Amino acid sequence: MTVKLTLPTQSKMLSKDFVYGVATASFQIEGGKASRLPCIWDTFCDTPNTIADGSNGEMACDHFNRWQDDIELIDSIGVDAYRLSISWPRVITESGELNQEGVAYYMNILDTLKSKRIKAFVTLYHWDLPQHLEDKGGWLNRETAYEFRNYANLISKVFGNRVHAYATLNEPFCSAFLGYEVGTHAPGIIGKEFGKKAAHHLLLAHGLAMEVLAKNSPNTLNGIVLNFTPCYPESESLADINAAAFADDYFNQWYIKPLFDGKYPEILSTLPAAHQPDIHEGDMAIIAHSMDYLGVNFYTRAIYRADVDEHFLQIDPPEPRTDIGWEIYPKAFTELLVSLNEKYRLPPVYITENGAAMADKIIDGVVNDQDRVDYYQQHLNAVNDAIEQGVKVDGYFAWSLMDNFEWAEGYLKRFGIVYVDYETQVRTIKASGFAYKALITNR
Ligand code: NOJ
Repeated sequence: MTVKLTLPTQSKMLSKDFVYGVATASFQIEGGKASRLPCIWDTFCDTPNTIADGSNGEMACDHFNRWQDDIELIDSIGVDAYRLSISWPRVITESGELNQEGVAYYMNILDTLKSKRIKAFVTLYHWDLPQHLEDKGGWLNRETAYEFRNYANLISKVFGNRVHAYATLNEPFCSAFLGYEVGTHAPGIIGKEFGKKAAHHLLLAHGLAMEVLAKNSPNTLNGIVLNFTPCYPESESLADINAAAFADDYFNQWYIKPLFDGKYPEILSTLPAAHQPDIHEGDMAIIAHSMDYLGVNFYTRAIYRADVDEHFLQIDPPEPRTDIGWEIYPKAFTELLVSLNEKYRLPPVYITENGAAMADKIIDGVVNDQDRVDYYQQHLNAVNDAIEQGVKVDGYFAWSLMDNFEWAEGYLKRFGIVYVDYETQVRTIKASGFAYKALITNR
């Protein structure tokens, strides 16, 4: 056990060029609801029994009003980069034009980051779809992809060289599967016939946005952020191995294979026709637009067994687990990166999220989150192992800068390296935050 984070002396992750950052997302931290359009998460939070603590994003971390102090905080941790997301409903009006007030808000943030030489990694879509677009079908409506292109076009024209890297989408798997198939995320739609249709329109939106980003912003790194939950079989039996492989195609490869190979995994043809996406001619070429980097989010793995009715059954993970119930299994992180590197011609990879929810206690103004420090240590080592096996990883972002609105879990699960007291909005750097700072500044 250590409150320090260390890496082998020869590690590439100790080079000054390796980018260390912290990450957040607009809906999870901003609040400031009155000065933007409603989004699907506002509506979802207003629906009974959706959010564990019945909370919403109205105040969140009040970052909308406290952004200057928060950037001071980010700077005090010594990071090279800050990954934030733009709230689409804050910057684009219902008629599809720029909302100048919203633009000015982010412009100030980006200018302040630039003045402090903190690289801005900007995500265009971290799940806060304008509600008026959901009213027309949301990601089940192909038109939404073109609305997204319009948004990406207008925004990338105004931000200029303030942005170091753009990500079109954050975790399209979550938007599609959780939002439109099992309904645990906004907009809460349930049905096997919807998930892959939404996924296709999200990926199309990504490709269309990549075209305009490449044109408007050729000097930024332009890419996407995908999440991966590597799938392991419960036993060595062929049935379990096949079940895990099917799950991997369904949950993971579905979102990356089209980007690099221009096609969906072969399981596409085994899905009932009604569950398949509507693919138009030319779509796959748009989706496979070249990218400058791939953002990888990793938290845990999943274990599957064969099932009689369905293709696979996910079983409860063994200990140790974090406070959100996710198994701590860093080996899967190394194996994931190595296997993606073998399967695809990857551009440089940035770990755009990694971190842990822990049951933090603040005692006399101190949060001693040794468990989170241990998680970070194990996962930094796992990334280092992947680099040693030939994967080109150029950066790592801790999720999250601070505790925030954890979607369906509300404010009950804390992922920050900074503790937030939601009553007073006081921020307190946790032991993990100090350990991260020491790792970065002692390079
Ligand atoms: C993935 C998401 O991008 C982020 O919004 C979320 O808070 C973390 N993972 C933790 O669940």
